[in-house]
Amino acid sequence: MGFPTDLTYDSIVSRITPRVGLGPLVTAGAMATAVLGLVATALPAAAEPTPPSGGAAGAAGRVTGQVIGGGYANRSSTPFFVQLDLGLNLSGTDLIGSCGATMITPYWAVTAAHCLKPTSDSRLSLAQSSAWVNPIRAGVGRRYGIAAVAIHPKWEPASSANDIALVRLKSQSPVPGALPLLTDGSRPARGERLEVYGLGRTVADDELSFSDRLMGAVVTDLSGPSQLARCGSYSTAEYRPSQSLCAGVPVGGIDSCQGDSGGPLVARIAGRPTLVGIVSGGNGCALANYPGIYTRVSRYAGWVKARLSPAKVDVTLGCATGCRVSTSRPVVVRVHNSGWADGSWAVDADPGILTVAPAARGTIAGWQTRKVVLQPTGARKGWTTVKLRGSGGGTKVVRILVN
Ligand code: ARG
Repeated sequence: MGFPTDLTYDSIVSRITPRVGLGPLVTAGAMATAVLGLVATALPAAAEPTPPSGGAAGAAGRVTGQVIGGGYANRSSTPFFVQLDLGLNLSGTDLIGSCGATMITPYWAVTAAHCLKPTSDSRLSLAQSSAWVNPIRAGVGRRYGIAAVAIHPKWEPASSANDIALVRLKSQSPVPGALPLLTDGSRPARGERLEVYGLGRTVADDELSFSDRLMGAVVTDLSGPSQLARCGSYSTAEYRPSQSLCAGVPVGGIDSCQGDSGGPLVARIAGRPTLVGIVSGGNGCALANYPGIYTRVSRYAGWVKARLSPAKVDVTLGCATGCRVSTSRPVVVRVHNSGWADGSWAVDADPGILTVAPAARGTIAGWQTRKVVLQPTGARKGWTTVKLRGSGGGTKVVRILVN
């Protein structure tokens, strides 16, 4: 994927920030309310830098009744947040070439597919900083090269459907705090409290308002679990509940925005932070009736898991090498897949001597175990060789005495 260097800032914005629909322009009034509402204040107020113009007070002041404090995200409770540097080297627009991302294992981060569109894999890197400062702007923290990128095969750039991608780091991130993802296909309840984090714009129509420090906002689910639910004033083509979540506040004023794409939408499930959404799109930012649209992570859990770790299928005999079996003493073979992806296995035995029941080969899903039985046919006795094969687990040849 090449990227023309003569694009202006605005055309880059529109390339990496698909907008859903053509809504009203953000007005000056809306601008002040477009600041992300902030979650937790970890530093004492005196140590805090001044929030960006129209800061938390603006948002909190306008959006009455919201449980929004003033301050930056608590970095120690958000170690899963990382920033994807698209390596575009755009002069003066240093942060437009970046997106949020979430560590879901020490090697893998999840982000939005549209983030990866204007760049090429070789330019990408991931920045992680335990400090609060933006690791890309400040050049602090750690940098990771990207070993592999997986964009969802059904991602549609025009409609932003299936806006999810995975990046694999070249080396393991030592920072603990990978975020579990919602895998059971469920959706947040309408009104459920959610958190969104990012280093993107703090003012909707100000391209230079990217945050220097990680911001967090408390938003609520505005659509609920129904497959027929609507999201604000979006059309049914713009908001597809089967693959998206709708989160914000109905009156606007609190939202994610450009530069936050790819970053996490987090739910506390049984007190545990869980990744439920990925910042994907929206009509403007923080407008009334146009909440943020997020990729619904649980819908893609199968696709994600299949790429996280390849199958490792171990096929092991229930007795030591050189074991004896007889018609009254069959032997059990255990097939176990200790990876996420589906794997295959096979038990090759001499059919004149041993039958393998109920099947001699098959596929096995991630983290599953199954057992098959080697049963002497009784037709012949003596030593025989059995081959045990599992994808990612290699082949073992064992000798068995059948008597
Ligand atoms: N697509 C944007 C990006 O690339 C994120 C837009 C989020 N918009 C919103 N209203 N929540 O950064």
